[in-house]
Amino acid sequence: MSPRILAALLVVSLIAYATSEENPTMRIEARDVVPTLPKRFGKPVYDLRSSRISVDGFLLGRELFYDQILSRDSSTSCGSCHQHFAAFGHVDHTLSHGIDGRIGKRNVPAIQNEIWSSTFMWDGGVTHMDLQPIAPITDTSEMGETLDRVIKKLSASTKYRRMFRSAFRTETITTYHMLKALSQFIALMVSADARYDRMMEHRDVYTDQEQRGLLAFRARCAACHREPLFTDGSYRNNGIGMDTALRDVGRFAITADPADSLKFKVPSLRNVDRTYPYMHDGRFRTLRAVLDHYGRGTFFGRSPDPALKSTVGMKEHEKKDILAFLLTLTDSTFLHDRRFVDPNIR
Ligand code: HEC
Ligand code: HEC
Repeated sequence: MSPRILAALLVVSLIAYATSEENPTMRIEARDVVPTLPKRFGKPVYDLRSSRISVDGFLLGRELFYDQILSRDSSTSCGSCHQHFAAFGHVDHTLSHGIDGRIGKRNVPAIQNEIWSSTFMWDGGVTHMDLQPIAPITDTSEMGETLDRVIKKLSASTKYRRMFRSAFRTETITTYHMLKALSQFIALMVSADARYDRMMEHRDVYTDQEQRGLLAFRARCAACHREPLFTDGSYRNNGIGMDTALRDVGRFAITADPADSLKFKVPSLRNVDRTYPYMHDGRFRTLRAVLDHYGRGTFFGRSPDPALKSTVGMKEHEKKDILAFLLTLTDSTFLHDRRFVDPNIR
């Protein structure tokens, strides 16, 4: 056989191997748990040095994230609400659904680029990434469990005793280590490879319409949805008005400052095409409806944010351009990253 045919055969069999069905759960190696930290994103808020990510810590965090054992009736995992294909948001209902079919109070937000965030939840009620999981585990309409019982259940499992030992070199399972493992998993959820990112890094070019959309976005939306994370991390009233059913006051519930009434965290718009429905109560099903809200210029609440002025009076062609631009924030590398796949469903 000629060397050329041999080389061709080799390439063909390599491709067949790489795409074969037998290779779905990816082997995680040390280089797979190094978080992507694009310079453009700035320094992470989360201290990655004190919480170094290891292969075993990541694997444990992933196992916990997808395990219903964290809920009282073993019906609900973090992953039931935070779905990978939706950038770890949830697409099929407006408010979250937890144990016993209970309906939560808010729309499930995406989980992405959390290490650059200093506060969490729609109202900023949680101030450290490591503490975030305590809220859903103990919330009666989410997982309805106590931390004590979770630790008891984990300690009774040979699998978890083995996994905690590999990750933290200790026989005793503690809440502290459980939270650290979940953080190691969440810290790697970095979305930084959308077409927008490739364009910014000169690896791709925009169409004329996307380019016009980017400029319109910068003029009208970026005051709050700041590049490159597409949030400035602040709490604002974007004028949608109080919902009629839950009467959610947002940040006011945390600070008790009347000026914070109806303020919610500015959500990132990365993967926004996948994270519908929109807003803290999921009231808008389409991006079109969101743009119509901003363009209309009818804003509710005692203090609609002054920066909303720039959104008023968008022309039809401008809305279309902004929509085209927003679609370039979809990051299929992130949405199809095999490291994040539930290890038990394949
Ligand atoms: C029943 C559905 C549900 C379950 C289960 C659930 N979450 Fe959530 N998660 C939500 C909702 C809803 C919010 C927003 C809550 C709010 O703002 O009050 C949220 C917020 C978050 C956030 C903050 C995102 C941000 O940028 O502010 C993180 C991180 C998170 N959840 C991680 C987890 C982890 C880890 C688990 C498992 C221990 C988990 N969630 C279980 C529904 C759920
Ligand atoms: C004054 C600050 C501000 C400006 C300007 C602004 N937004 Fe927002 N945006 C917010 C806040 C705050 C929310 C969350 C509100 C809530 O849930 O109650 C939000 C939510 C959204 C959401 C829903 C995202 C999700 O995951 O639920 C989209 C989409 C959005 N904005 C797009 C835009 C676009 C496009 C523009 C420009 C036309 C824009 N925004 C201008 C503050 C702003």
